[in-house]
Amino acid sequence: MSKRIGILTAGGDSPGLNAAIRGVAKAARNIYGMQVIGFKDGFRGLAENRTLMLEPGMLSGILTIGGTILGTSRDKPHKMKIGGKTQDMTDAIVENYNAHHLDALVCIGGGGTQKNALQLKMKGLNIITMPKTIDNDVGLTDTTFGFDTALGIATEAIDRLHSTAHSHHRIIVVEIMGHRAGWLALGSGIAGGADVILLPEIPYHLDKVADAITHRLKHGKNFSIVAVAEGAMSVEDAAEVGDLVKKLAKAEEGEDKRARKQAKAALRSFEASGGDHTLKLAHQLEDLTGLESRPTILGHLQRGGTPSAVDRILGSRLGTACADCIEQGITGVMVAACGEGYTTVPLEEVAGNKKLVPLDHPWVDTARRLGICLGD
Ligand code: F6P
Repeated sequence: MSKRIGILTAGGDSPGLNAAIRGVAKAARNIYGMQVIGFKDGFRGLAENRTLMLEPGMLSGILTIGGTILGTSRDKPHKMKIGGKTQDMTDAIVENYNAHHLDALVCIGGGGTQKNALQLKMKGLNIITMPKTIDNDVGLTDTTFGFDTALGIATEAIDRLHSTAHSHHRIIVVEIMGHRAGWLALGSGIAGGADVILLPEIPYHLDKVADAITHRLKHGKNFSIVAVAEGAMSVEDAAEVGDLVKKLAKAEEGEDKRARKQAKAALRSFEASGGDHTLKLAHQLEDLTGLESRPTILGHLQRGGTPSAVDRILGSRLGTACADCIEQGITGVMVAACGEGYTTVPLEEVAGNKKLVPLDHPWVDTARRLGICLGD
């Protein structure tokens, strides 16, 4: 009997998703004769049983397209807004999985998806995942698809910002995505020749950033590009966040619901203030250096459009490998990039395993040796 598999894409969209869907579905259908059912809009579509049969016609012409033909959402199986109320939809998901007689479900997503996938595995479903995110912050995989495309877009943006910063003798503070990881800002900052790169992993001293710009000014460089990761923080803010994290842990230990809610809300406001932070930083640097300053927030531009060749190859590679694993009865794992090949990692090890930039990473060392100010 041929196998029946489901596929969904969850979390933020990422270039290369369609290559991965196509990779799984082509190999599953053409090599192994499996039937492939797509679920729309992430875990929500599975909970609501909204499907799309991934037949050959659906797979043609999608390799070069950004986004995901299945649609996506940030809904979690155990916490889904249905008619204005938050509900646990895990049972509905298990029911639909069984109703479709699935032999396996492929969940393509980032860190959050890996956690959600583990929960479904624990409910007895055969789950297999692939790592995608422009943030490159999923642990135990060399890289994630989407990252290379976003890196190219952010680098091109920095290239373009150079000529306007240079012409107007300005500081341009460019905010780059990455959630709490600095991979995109660091990579594009080095590739684009930024003068300052600020990462979540290295809390910055404002005066040191201003000094680096003033130093350039003294040496005839009357403009500067500051590449700031959306999660970057000053040492003062980082200390405040550290205190809040401790408060939250204490509240959770003592089961103090009110204190937990307060700490969580305060922490969320730090996360939400990405754009505000960039604007504030631009003002502060203008005041401290005397150079006119402008903020630029690249935002979702970094996730949109045609995937790079690297991401198309990675998505195709992991997608076809995923079909091989299912055929061999391997589930409960993430299909991870490993050199030119792949490896499988148990979901228990992947869930919650965030890959931040290690302080001794060669890219950090390269940036320092190039004289780029990292604010520390
Ligand atoms: O995880 C990808 C990402 O683009 C992050 O870099 C960013 O913090 C977040 O998603 C933005 O999420 P949303 O698209 O839901 O606003």
